[in-house]
Amino acid sequence: MERLFLVGPGNVGTRLAAALAAAGVRVETVTRRCGWDRATDAGDPAPRLLAMREDDLPPALERFPPELRPRLALVQNGFLEPLLGPLDETTRGLIWFTARGEFFAPLRPSILHGALAGPLAAALVRGGLAFEVSASREAFVREMIVKGAWNGVVGLPLAVHGLDLGTYLESHEQEWRAVISETTAAAGAWYGVPVDAETACRCLVETTAPIRHVAVTSAKALRWRNGAVVAMGRATGVPTPVNEHLLRAAGYDSATGGR
Ligand SMILES: NC(=O)c1ccc[n+]([C@@H]2O[C@H](COP(=O)([O-])OP(=O)(O)OC[C@H]3O[C@@H](n4cnc5c(N)ncnc54)[C@H](OP(=O)(O)O)[C@@H]3O)[C@@H](O)[C@H]2O)c1
Repeated sequence: MERLFLVGPGNVGTRLAAALAAAGVRVETVTRRCGWDRATDAGDPAPRLLAMREDDLPPALERFPPELRPRLALVQNGFLEPLLGPLDETTRGLIWFTARGEFFAPLRPSILHGALAGPLAAALVRGGLAFEVSASREAFVREMIVKGAWNGVVGLPLAVHGLDLGTYLESHEQEWRAVISETTAAAGAWYGVPVDAETACRCLVETTAPIRHVAVTSAKALRWRNGAVVAMGRATGVPTPVNEHLLRAAGYDSATGGR
């Protein structure tokens, strides 16, 4: 991998770009306003790493010609398929670090799956980030559901209760365990990949020590996270009352997918 387009130079994008540049990859940065002409040129085979937020992903995806889909790598959090449909042609990533401005905390190795996963992970590792490749779709989906359950806790419930993560985990264990087991049950049924809720609970506990101070004033991307869990639950007949209750408390309308 000699060259790559990095689309969305925010907290995650700039960390990935810096690691790739350190590994000797020539990174062409694409912002909302600059670089799109070159990035959407179907004749250019360079990979495109898309690191914008979930809500900005659908209009960005539409700008790429279909033949470039196998050259795209998506690293958004959240459950993308319930809203976007199958994404099997693209390379997918699960980012397991927290980056906000100067703050950076690696939580566990991040995971890539798909056609670009091998060379991308190799370059990112050379550049100093911990990355692994998930070889099978089923293994990746299982990891994605574990990460989705994690995001369902490190977000909406903190905003609803006005608590930092450490205090919330200590004071609301029954609630966060319910958020996780609803997520693993609903997403597991929807994706057809069973996931053990206890594994996801253990992952949350084991990865959150460096970010227990984190507080969330306003939960974002709910339709891709807890909102998606409720939608997947409805589609598969899996009850998700705790996620629904938290969404209602945040003013999110599960019927329309908005506030
Ligand atoms: N930050 C973390 O610790 C972390 C960890 C794991 C996963 N993630 C996931 O990674 C994704 C990105 O998060 P983030 O924290 O990096 O967000 P962020 O800091 O807001 O960065 C997103 C960047 O994408 C840009 N952007 C949006 N639409 C664009 C477009 N059409 N073309 C080019 N650039 C565009 C934004 O530009 P503007 O500034 O103009 O809006 C911004 O620079 C999210 O899905 C998030 O859930 C984040």
